[in-house]
Amino acid sequence: MSTASSAENSILGAQQPRSLKLAEVEFIEILGSKSIVCGFHLVDYIWSDIFANLAPASTYVLITDTNLARLYLEKYHEGFQTAWAHHKPGATPPRLLTHVLPPGETSKSRATKGSIEDWMLSEKCTRDTMVLALGGGVIGDLVGFVAATFMRGVPFIQIPTSLLAMVDSSIGGKTAVDTPAGKNLIGAFWQPKRIYMDMAILSTLPAREFSNGMAEVVKTAAIWTPEEFDILESSAPEIRSAVLEGQHGNSNAGLALGTRSPAQSLLLRVIAASARVKAYVVTHDERESGMRGLLNFGHTIGHAIEAILSPQVLHGECVAIGCVLEAEIARRMGHLREVGVARLTRCLRAYGLPTAVNDPIIHKLVGGRRIAELRPRRLMDIMGLDKKTVGSQKRLVILKGLGQTLEMKPTNVDDALINEVISAGVLVNPVPESLSTAEASVVVVPPGSKSISNRALQLAALGTGECRIKNLLHSDDTQVMLTALQAMGGCTFSWEDDGDTLVVVGGGGKLRVPDSELYLGNAGTAARFLTTTVNLIDAGSDTMATTVLTGNARMKQRPTGPLVDALRTNGCTIDYCEREGSLPLRITHMGKQFPGGRIQLAASVSSQYVSSILLCAPYAQSPVHLELVGGKVISQPYIDMTIAMMVQFGCKVERIAENEYLIPCGAYTNPAEYVVESDASSATYPLAFAAITGTQCTVPNIGSASLQGDARFAVDVLRPMGCTVEQTETSTTVRGPPRGNLRALGDIDMEPMTDAFLTAAALAAVAPANDGVTRIRGIANQHVKECDRIAAMCDELAKFGVKTENHPDGIDVYGVAVDALQKSTPSIHCYDDHRVAMSFSVLACVAPCGAEIRERRCVGKTWPQWWDVLGRDLGAPVAGSDPVVHEPDSEAKNAIASSNASIVIIGMRGVGKTSLGKAAAQFLGLAFVDMDEYLEKEVGQTIPEIINGSGWAAFREHECRLLAKALTQDHPIGAIIACGGGVVEGEENRAVLKKHVASGAVVVCLTPNMQHVAEYLNKDKSRPAYAATSDINDVYARRLPLYAECCNYEYLVDKALLAANEDDQAGSWSIIERDFIRLLKFASGRDLNRADLAHPSFFVSLTAPDVREYLPFKLVQVTAGAQAIELRVDLLLRAPELANADLADLGAQDGFVHYVHRQFTILRHSSRLPVVFTVRTSPQGGIFPVDADKLRVRLLQCAIRWGAEYVDVEVDNAAANIYAARQKSLVIASYHDTAGKVLRWGESESEFANEMLARARTCGDIAKLISVAQSWEDNLACQRFVQRNHSVAAPLIALNMGYQGQLSRVLCPCLTPVTHPLLTASAAPGQISVRQINEARSLAGLLPSKQFFLFGTPIQQSPSPAMHNAGFAALGLPYTYGLKETQSADELREVIGSADFGGASVTIPHKQTIISLLDQLTLAAQRIGAVNTIIPLQDTDGKRTLVGDNTDYLGIVGCLQRAQLERQSESFGTSKALVIGAGGTSRAALYALYTLGVRHAFVFNRTTSRAEALVEEFTSLFESIEVAADLQAAAALNPAYIIGTIPASDLAIPDELFAGAAGVALDMAYKPRWTPLLERAARNNWTVVHGVAVLIEQGVHQLEKWTHSTAPIQIMSEAVYTKYNAEF
Ligand SMILES: NC(=O)c1ccc[n+]([C@@H]2O[C@H](COP(=O)([O-])OP(=O)(O)OC[C@H]3O[C@@H](n4cnc5c(N)ncnc54)[C@H](O)[C@@H]3O)[C@@H](O)[C@H]2O)c1
Ligand SMILES: [Zn+2]
Repeated sequence: MSTASSAENSILGAQQPRSLKLAEVEFIEILGSKSIVCGFHLVDYIWSDIFANLAPASTYVLITDTNLARLYLEKYHEGFQTAWAHHKPGATPPRLLTHVLPPGETSKSRATKGSIEDWMLSEKCTRDTMVLALGGGVIGDLVGFVAATFMRGVPFIQIPTSLLAMVDSSIGGKTAVDTPAGKNLIGAFWQPKRIYMDMAILSTLPAREFSNGMAEVVKTAAIWTPEEFDILESSAPEIRSAVLEGQHGNSNAGLALGTRSPAQSLLLRVIAASARVKAYVVTHDERESGMRGLLNFGHTIGHAIEAILSPQVLHGECVAIGCVLEAEIARRMGHLREVGVARLTRCLRAYGLPTAVNDPIIHKLVGGRRIAELRPRRLMDIMGLDKKTVGSQKRLVILKGLGQTLEMKPTNVDDALINEVISAGVLVNPVPESLSTAEASVVVVPPGSKSISNRALQLAALGTGECRIKNLLHSDDTQVMLTALQAMGGCTFSWEDDGDTLVVVGGGGKLRVPDSELYLGNAGTAARFLTTTVNLIDAGSDTMATTVLTGNARMKQRPTGPLVDALRTNGCTIDYCEREGSLPLRITHMGKQFPGGRIQLAASVSSQYVSSILLCAPYAQSPVHLELVGGKVISQPYIDMTIAMMVQFGCKVERIAENEYLIPCGAYTNPAEYVVESDASSATYPLAFAAITGTQCTVPNIGSASLQGDARFAVDVLRPMGCTVEQTETSTTVRGPPRGNLRALGDIDMEPMTDAFLTAAALAAVAPANDGVTRIRGIANQHVKECDRIAAMCDELAKFGVKTENHPDGIDVYGVAVDALQKSTPSIHCYDDHRVAMSFSVLACVAPCGAEIRERRCVGKTWPQWWDVLGRDLGAPVAGSDPVVHEPDSEAKNAIASSNASIVIIGMRGVGKTSLGKAAAQFLGLAFVDMDEYLEKEVGQTIPEIINGSGWAAFREHECRLLAKALTQDHPIGAIIACGGGVVEGEENRAVLKKHVASGAVVVCLTPNMQHVAEYLNKDKSRPAYAATSDINDVYARRLPLYAECCNYEYLVDKALLAANEDDQAGSWSIIERDFIRLLKFASGRDLNRADLAHPSFFVSLTAPDVREYLPFKLVQVTAGAQAIELRVDLLLRAPELANADLADLGAQDGFVHYVHRQFTILRHSSRLPVVFTVRTSPQGGIFPVDADKLRVRLLQCAIRWGAEYVDVEVDNAAANIYAARQKSLVIASYHDTAGKVLRWGESESEFANEMLARARTCGDIAKLISVAQSWEDNLACQRFVQRNHSVAAPLIALNMGYQGQLSRVLCPCLTPVTHPLLTASAAPGQISVRQINEARSLAGLLPSKQFFLFGTPIQQSPSPAMHNAGFAALGLPYTYGLKETQSADELREVIGSADFGGASVTIPHKQTIISLLDQLTLAAQRIGAVNTIIPLQDTDGKRTLVGDNTDYLGIVGCLQRAQLERQSESFGTSKALVIGAGGTSRAALYALYTLGVRHAFVFNRTTSRAEALVEEFTSLFESIEVAADLQAAAALNPAYIIGTIPASDLAIPDELFAGAAGVALDMAYKPRWTPLLERAARNNWTVVHGVAVLIEQGVHQLEKWTHSTAPIQIMSEAVYTKYNAEF
């Protein structure tokens, strides 16, 4: 900080002063006086004005920053003296003190203010001091505040030097400093006496700061003055040049009106106009109510962005983004047209401002990671805190047009709408069926064709004369084109009719070198067209002049080589700046132009190359003779379009041969008007919407006469698919068949309409009729579009469970029925490709659970308002969605796109193929095919008829032929096919099945308990009988190896094994079903049920010879805290029944395998945890005899076929084979040094360990190395070995056995083997329990303590603390769970912000309000719209994300499923459900019912309007959901499920509710235990679920999500009941 005291006032007084240069100025009135002065070169004027017209002061204090001091301080000193000499010649001038501060926001502090005051006091400044602020907003705000309080206020002058300060901060009298608590919190209103705006001073302002101010200028014009907006929009280059002008020499240009250049006048005009608006608003609304709020346009969202991205991103940059988003909200609401958004965007861009959060400008400033922090939740949260919001209601300035707002004040806007627009993704929910019955036709006018728009722009820009272009596409592509053409000075653009018409005044082909490189984003058409166009630039004598064409990362990968080759050969100088064959390109003009003459061009990749040359050809130096070479010319229709349009603009192209064109020299003559046809590719989406949903849609301006190839889509694609299509020359109407009835297309060549193939593929996905196969060809170019679109369609369709095949020139799509699509919400990656996004949004409209489209904004390329159209006009339920980065749900974590190939079930008759197959098909959303029925239908005879009539051989023949047909033609995907028992008898059948297995599909064999089969067959008379039981056994024995040969999975069906089960429902078939479904989910890759290795994990080793020893209860207890169970198969040999088995005997071997299979199955029936299947040999620390190695290998192979999630394989010669055959199982390759002598960990002695690790990794997914600790230090060596070698991607289990090795178990990173006190023997010496390990980790400081809470009120009686604390204690976790009782969500902010916050349960009244405090919601919580669980997730960088989840629904799901098992009732799908209440819990209840498959629901609530609102929100999830007027009315609907969600009350429950078949009643209220609802239900023999059971179930889920481990259910539930039973 430097201080210059009064200037050397010595000699000047004596000499004759130079003459004054008094600028000609303009005034702006504010608060009744003309105190704002604008002009150029104002220094003399300023001092003269002050001396002459303001009260005299003894001291003038001028404060500025170092940047300005360097440039202007001297001038101000000199001017001061000169003006004084003229003002009072000879008199002693007053004091001029100057003070210089460091630049930047940090100067705007209390400390700086204090230091200025101290300095002024030390300089003896008195009340007659005048303070001048020379600087940007920082200096103005700070110095103004000093003036406001110095000696209770001294006069103050603003000399704003930044554009922002001129148009914003200097006007209005707001002054302030920043404090650590926030910006501008301490300040005062203090009006300056004068505000001098010296435009000349802007010449030194850094370009980025100029842009920063332009954001406010554009904003102000956008809300206030249409004319100003027009000028800003069309004059960006001039305005920018005016600022630069002063930099050339020290002229006084502009000082006098006569010397002002047109550009300078323009600059002054737009700045003054902007300042005038602010002055007007301040004058009429000084204390910021209503009108002043208008200036806040762009700021509500802009500030939220700024809060996260400052200081790297400037205020104006954030406001620019905010303006675009807020304008999009106005568009979404239907007030602003897209053209408004587009013009606003382009205008901001023209001044160098970013217009989206992922703008390259922002990327450069902060990088992608910071941008990722802009989660919608956080932004909404910050907006909620904005001091300008009233209560929780957000208010935004809604534009009606450019220069016009909806109201003269901000408008209330729904959070959901804001959220939708600021979200990165969109959730498209299924369209209600009811829409399909609507008769009316929706009319949609898609945006103008991109191809036609870009051609029209290029033609009109090169042409001569004026052309009015209508229905021009407003998209990123055309904007890029407009901006680039403007930058080459080729033409001028202006808008008419509120932006509907673009007026182009063509430049007749005269182009100049642009000021900077031409950035083309990802606009392919613009890039290709301009590649030739820039070669038309005439750089005159400047032979070094160059132009660079560049784009975004994707653009830089897209090919443009053939075009560049052709131009180079023609004599143009073009260099690749980065990658050969792609942008960026540098064109060196060499003064000359595009030579023309004969040009050869390879046109098999893109027709745009051809069009590019054709469009420019008339301006070449000699006539162009264009010859297309290098194979088949792609997309001829586009070439034809170009030629047709050239004719419309007055230039002829002669086609002299198939691929040769002659273009004479000439010039385009612009037609007065040109109307751009709507884009036919875009039109495919609304038409496809009609097709897929069974509704009707009309596109009124595309018909059979269109130039666009895609205009044929309706007739050539939709009609054959079963739609009714009416097409005239100029319009197209499509009506879809009833939903689910689209027909596959078979073979179709889409070469004439390649861009429409994505739409066709999306429709084909749900077109099962007509064989279901659609083979699209002729679209090879789609491999190299915005992305590899064919691969993208394959990958993303797989997420719906749709099978496809990727071909060099096309795609095959295997259509499925709508309800066979995956029953979960797929998250679609669009590769930033608009067409991928729009195609999948159409498919989402009928998918059972809709779809999340991850990249909302990518549609901006051609149809920015697509989501508005889809949501508002077409009626699809759309909402914002924030694609979740980490999905904490364990179900989702392993979800992988599964192959949807049909699953085949084989096995003996009577084993349960049909009943299990049907149940699984229903659950998995697949079709069920019974081969017997299929065969009878195909042959037209019953099976006994066939056999009796033509014999067994004929039957087998049919069977064989039809199995092949079913698997390859009728049901290759999306079905479960149950085969007849004898299917494996025929060799050809076996070949068919083996081929199916080889293709990666699942053939599962049901293995029976033969006794049950015999019983069944004796009852079943529909088939030729077996003579006796012994016959059956013979048949079985014969078929057994055949079955084994044909299947890749086996499932043991044996009711006898259920008897010992925990939820012993005496042989409940449902458990067998449940576990069969689980096997299918595993085998098909739908759910691999793997442990999460990103966190410490444990598996508990079962050591008893019979798993039943742990049943019914112990198993649940011993697995608490574990992520898997190890079945030590070798230890099963100790079973008494195997005592005398001789393992050398084949029969005994079979017996043992069968024993193990039964054990495995019992384990499956009793626990949902994954199983580690281990056969430990004696040298490796187990008891399995080494001489039974064949049996060991056989057991491991069986484990893979039984679906064991993990198989432990010892590193030996057999290991590699098992690894190769592991299917979906993971192999743990293990090696034990039971003596601890050779396997050593220390770096110098670990050669053997390294070798074993390397070998383990060649035959396993997870390596496991075990040694024995010789000393305690060995544990640390082991830990360091782990650190060197373990990662989540290549996991390593390493530890030391023995007492001294216990510490290594504490430190083991994953899948640590553990024991439990209730287990009689541990599996290995030194094994300890989960609790011991956690306690040790906590003592060692490896497991920080955490606090958990229940948020809500009233909660004093809640059993949750007892439940969770008991759970934590049982696991040895240093966690405590307490109550945080409060009404105010604000108080919770601090709690969840603290470092030791571990998580929370949330109850009334915070379930919805808490959302604003969280970063992310799981899909379930998003859909429910309420949160009951908060989970903080830490990423690897330690950054914490607060995830909101909802386990209420999981609690309800779990309890209802269990009740269903008990009831043995029919499936959920056909039943109706009643939900009583309409709060946050009812939302969870509805979602739970939806997940269970219930499709018909009723809601009753005493306040009907709330029930109606709830029903409205959930319509898309149910086939029918309605409000029940009262409970009597609800009774008439016969619900099978009733869920109460309101506190037990005096609500009268009528008995009629339970009059139908006995169902399940569940009450979320748990006080009292018997609520009126449950009491009545029980009296009527319904199954009841007590609220306390749901409470425990949801709590168990919470604890598991918080701890990433299995909850100690038993202990948690005991803790609840102990408290509960005592109190209720
Ligand atoms: N009081 C209000 O109503 C109001 C309104 C908006 C903004 N603000 C405040 O304004 C401040 C931001 O103002 P700003 O954007 O002008 O920032 P600033 O004052 O920091 O100026 C930006 C930079 O440009 C330099 N600079 C300014 N004019 C120059 C020139 N002519 N030649 C060369 N360099 C020059 C400055 O030294 C500084 O480095 C913030 O503190 C903000 O809170 C106040
Ligand atoms: Zn602002």
